[in-house]
Amino acid sequence: MNDKQLAANHAVQQVQDGMVVGLGTGSTANCFIDALAKRCQEENLYVTVVASSVVSTIKAQQLGLPLIALEHLSRLDLYVDGADEVAPDLTLLKGRGYDLVREKLLARASDQFLVLIDQSKQVSHIGEKFPIPVEVMPFAWQMVKHQLEKLGGQGGLRKTANQDGFVVSAYGSLVLDMTFPAEIDSKALHRALNETPGVVEHGIFQNLASTVIMGKNGEVELLGG
Ligand code: 5RP
Repeated sequence: MNDKQLAANHAVQQVQDGMVVGLGTGSTANCFIDALAKRCQEENLYVTVVASSVVSTIKAQQLGLPLIALEHLSRLDLYVDGADEVAPDLTLLKGRGYDLVREKLLARASDQFLVLIDQSKQVSHIGEKFPIPVEVMPFAWQMVKHQLEKLGGQGGLRKTANQDGFVVSAYGSLVLDMTFPAEIDSKALHRALNETPGVVEHGIFQNLASTVIMGKNGEVELLGG
């Protein structure tokens, strides 16, 4: 069992009968979805799930987990997802996928947000390994980019894998991948991005994680919570 599966197996033990559980997106979230389906089958556990993306919706469907649409919910019990970076204060960077809007909505609406990582995701500051994904209204991208450049940001629109077009998020936004000088801390950046008109959502998840569950060399380590 790898460290991502280890973290997922730990998280699935937090699920209780009758809960509404949010499913994240990515390879680590997939380990959790598999573990949840197994537990439901083996222990006759009944849960309702809500997915953060089309990919997770399809996976949940294939595994027979009972899905509810996000628009029918005002809250949920538990949201479980991966992250690209985790800073010491449990601020997260997310969004290598294209589903930031749903992911942040579910994280905020949930009583508990469990973040599953392996050791490679631990960083000293947000933006250490990856640019910050910023979803923008398509007509606003140049204005937003210009505003972010005034803060020292550098970057551009995310391209498709074959480099012949631009990525469109699940919400229909374009995605700017921006790097910022290390002097701007994630709190200042979080505030600046929230205050920039034309920004639909961004990848800094501040004060949202309840507990980070880290698989590390075959053991589970809990951060926060
Ligand atoms: C998607 C995400 C993912 O949770 C993040 O990219 C981590 O992915 P993985 O578990 O595959 O490493 O934020 O938007």
